[in-house]
Amino acid sequence: MSAPKIIALAGSLRTQSFNQKLINEAARFALQTGAEVEVIKLADLDLPIFSEDIEAQGTPADAQLLKDKLRAADGILLASPEYNGSITAALKNAIDWASRTEQGAVPAFRNKVVALFATSPGGLGGLRGLNHVRDILSGIGSLVLAEQLAVPSAFTVFDENGQISDPATAEKVSALTQQLVLVTSKLS
Ligand SMILES: Cc1cc2nc3c(=O)[nH]c(=O)nc-3n(C[C@H](O)[C@H](O)[C@H](O)COP(=O)(O)O)c2cc1C
Repeated sequence: MSAPKIIALAGSLRTQSFNQKLINEAARFALQTGAEVEVIKLADLDLPIFSEDIEAQGTPADAQLLKDKLRAADGILLASPEYNGSITAALKNAIDWASRTEQGAVPAFRNKVVALFATSPGGLGGLRGLNHVRDILSGIGSLVLAEQLAVPSAFTVFDENGQISDPATAEKVSALTQQLVLVTSKLS
């Protein structure tokens, strides 16, 4: 059985994003299980706001890159910040670009196993937004794990190196990550 290929992605463009830190930690735990892991930072991608007019002139290189990387992956570790009870525009935009299917090609999100994470300074940890992400990804064929993790009080969670300082939270992130790796290993 080959090592599952995992993409780790956060839906924030912010330099000090808590969700990026969270997914970096999940990626680190996934690497420890032997999975092949690539962290993709949305801020590094040049993704214009999706328009079919732009698409008609040719898919932007970074949109194609994202799509190709998702296609090649077995699973996705996804941390979604919560904006106004929902998904961020940056993440929805990335999903919209990556969801576009060239004729005869496999839809990028189809059959990808996804583990959902969120963190926010608030008490619910971004939980409400995860329902929306789950709906969107399930609708385009992803297999979103029933288990998910919303981490409240994001300001208190990470140390100065961006690592999770609270052992109980680290354990929860590690457990969900391991579940994703296990399920992707069985399916890939
Ligand atoms: C436009 C906007 C709307 C927000 N709405 C929510 C919200 O509904 N629930 C919540 O917990 N936090 C909300 N926040 C606070 C974010 O959780 C916080 O900015 C968080 O740090 C964003 O994630 P990031 O650190 O990964 O960028 C909102 C922030 C912005 C800018």
